[in-house]
This record gives sequence, structure tokens and C-alpha cells, in this order.
Amino acid sequence: MSDNRSTTRLRTQIAGIPVAQLSAAHPTPFYVYDQAKIVERIEDLKAFDVVRYAQKACSNIAVLDICRRHGALVDAVSAGEILRAEAAGFVADGDPPPIVYTADIFDQQALELVLDRNLHVNCGSTDMLEQLGKKDPGRSVTLRINPGFGHGHSQKTNTGGSQSKHGIWHTELEKSLQVAEQYDLKVVGLHMHIGSGTDLEHLSQVVTAMEQSAQVVGDQLGTISAGGGLPIPYQAEEEYVDLAAYFDLWDAARHRLEKQFGRKIHLEIEPGRYLVAEAGFLVAEIRAIKRMGDNWFYLVDAGFNDLARPILYGSYHPMTICHRNGAPSAAMREVVVGGPLCESGDIFTQEEGGFVCTRPLPEAELGDWLIIECAGAYGAVMGSNYNSKPLAAELLIRDGQVHTIRARQTFEQMTGAERIPD
Ligand SMILES: Cc1ncc(COP(=O)(O)O)c(C=O)c1O
Repeated sequence: MSDNRSTTRLRTQIAGIPVAQLSAAHPTPFYVYDQAKIVERIEDLKAFDVVRYAQKACSNIAVLDICRRHGALVDAVSAGEILRAEAAGFVADGDPPPIVYTADIFDQQALELVLDRNLHVNCGSTDMLEQLGKKDPGRSVTLRINPGFGHGHSQKTNTGGSQSKHGIWHTELEKSLQVAEQYDLKVVGLHMHIGSGTDLEHLSQVVTAMEQSAQVVGDQLGTISAGGGLPIPYQAEEEYVDLAAYFDLWDAARHRLEKQFGRKIHLEIEPGRYLVAEAGFLVAEIRAIKRMGDNWFYLVDAGFNDLARPILYGSYHPMTICHRNGAPSAAMREVVVGGPLCESGDIFTQEEGGFVCTRPLPEAELGDWLIIECAGAYGAVMGSNYNSKPLAAELLIRDGQVHTIRARQTFEQMTGAERIPD
């Protein structure tokens, strides 16, 4: 895989398009995605039988369309995500199923859609099995198993172990199979996802846990899913996971199961972050530069309403400066980067627990652009209207052309469903 992290902390272009050109046509803040990077990341994982995109990471229908055109299938965790997948051209029918609904509950709308479209379901609770089985017995299903351990880049993204709400507890698998049998549901798949932004050490442990659960299910099993969780290097010293080594672990497990069960076992991977994080940039403008005691602040026009990862998890994002006047400054300054919101936590340079920290960035002037990088995953999708800020525009760069894939939200769209009672 290729790595395009900037070492100078200066940037003038995104995917070959000058930042000044993008900003001239679109008011800041806005997201920009580089299609080539998304395609490259899908290709990285082609050894797996199925790359199933966890669209929660970035569910713009244009991004889903790119995934579909490049052979990825899709995961949906809500009725809205099912409808998005359909809007991007994914169809319900197919083997392997193009759309899989993965959740720990059915809300009313999701259950209705799943039944109406006959979608494959990855059940994270026995209650889901019962609710599905009562309405439509005789289906094939996948079970999401919580293997009893988990790991993520933050405790909030750890989706395994006894403090996590996700999946069917591993020792309850047998009981779940009985519930499935009661409704004539055939368990054909097993899935484990232990957390988002984890590491190879923890991901590798899942392989053994999967083989153990597969023993309980037996030879009706046709698919195992490694889940998502592949990290990307946000910091300079971080590295990519050795994908070949990771695939080999899963492939070996799959072959052992194939030998034992005497049938083909399909191997899926379900990445979100890995496919889109590095493709995305959040472009903001520096609107104030001020000193508070010993700290210098760059205040930009994007806030945690646009990118919530720093305030939610203390996440680190690489940042670069693009000078409006074109004069590159070699001088660096330790700065705190904050947004426009009326909330002290609206700081992009913070650690977990809300501790504000500084970042060495080039000296900048008002009107220069600050570019927050590796922002494609869990960025725009977590946007909100806090402080009545509109959702930012999303742009896609494809073959050197800029496409608006979501226009900036208008005031009318933001308030359109609100009513003052008579
Ligand atoms: C069921 C499931 N699959 C896949 C993912 C994608 O995770 P990631 O973006 O870390 O690859 C998630 C996110 O936590 C998830 O809950």
C-alpha cells in the first residue's frame, strides 16, 4: 500500500487539485475524498473472497457507488444504511449477499425492510433470531459472536468482551443455535468484529476464537467473516498492518475448517476505516490567531460538528497548512487548533480525556487553510448541526475532476422539519 503522509506539514494540493481552486468554488469547511485512494485500498484486500464495506465509516452514496463498481459488497447497520446501499445500486439478491444487515436489535423499520427485501441478517442477539424467525422461518442467517475479548483505538470503539453490548456471547452460541432451530433458521455464517482501529495482535486472536465457534456450528457453516477493525497510521510512527500475514492466518483457518467440514468456506472481511480514512480531507480556513497565556491558538471554521473524533476519542489527525499567498513558511509554531463552536471542547488537538495539547504547524496567517487529514472515516458521517452549523459539503476527486457529492446543507434543509405550534 502507498503512504502519502506529509512530512513538511505543508500542502498545496489534494489529489492533484490546488486547495485554492477547491476553496474558490466551495465555502469552507468541506470534505474532499480522493477516489483513487479508496480504490487502492479495496484492491489491497482482494485476497479475501469478499470485501464487505462497513459503510458506517463514510456512507455517502457516491462512496458506496465506488465500492460497488470496484467489487466490494456492503454492510448496513440501520434501515437508513440499507436504503443508502440500494440508492448506490446494490441489489438485495445475490450469493454472497450484496447487502447484509448487521445489528444487535431490529427497530421496526429495519425489520420491515429486511423482510420486504429478503436481506441476509447478521444477528447480534438471540432476540433478533426470535423476531426474525417468527416473521419468516426457514431463512439462512449469520451470527455475530462476541468472543469474550475486544480491542479498539479507544475503549469506546472496543466491541468485544463483557463490557460491550455487541454480539452473542461466545458461550451462548449453543443456546442461540437451539433458538435458530426452533424457527427453522439455518446458521450458515459466523462473524466476529472485536473493535475499530485495533491491531494485528488482537485481530489474530479472533482467528482462534472463530475456529472454536465454528466447531459448535458444524458443517452447515459456509462463511466466516473477520469483521473490520484494520487500523490506518494516523501518526508518523504508526505502521500498516501486514495484510499478507493477516490474510494467511485467516486463510489457514478457513482451510482447516474446509478439510474438517468437507465443504467450501467463504472468507469475508468487513473494513470501514481502512477503505476510506486516508482518502478524506477536511479543509477549513484559519479565521483567528490568538494567544492565551503560553498557548497560541489557530481557530478555524470547522468544529466538532464537522469532525467529532478528537472530542469523542481524543483522536490524532495529521494536519497541514496551505498558505493562501503561496509563500511557504519554514518557521514552525506550537499551536492549539480549535473550531468555532461555543464549547470549550471544540479543539482538534486534544488527547483522550479532553486534555488540550499543542501541535507543531507552520506559521500561518488569517485566511490560510488548515487541512485535517485521514478524515474520511467516521468524519462526515458523524457530523451534526450543533450550534446550528450546516452539514459540510463533500467533494470527490475522480480522474482529476472535482464532483460535489453532497452540497453544503442550507438553513431551510436544517430547519425544514421544525414547526412553531399555532
Ligand atoms: C459490525 C462492524 N463491522 C465493521 C466495522 C468497521 O470497523 P472499522 O472501521 O474499524 O474497519 C464496525 C465498526 O465498528 C462494525 O461495528
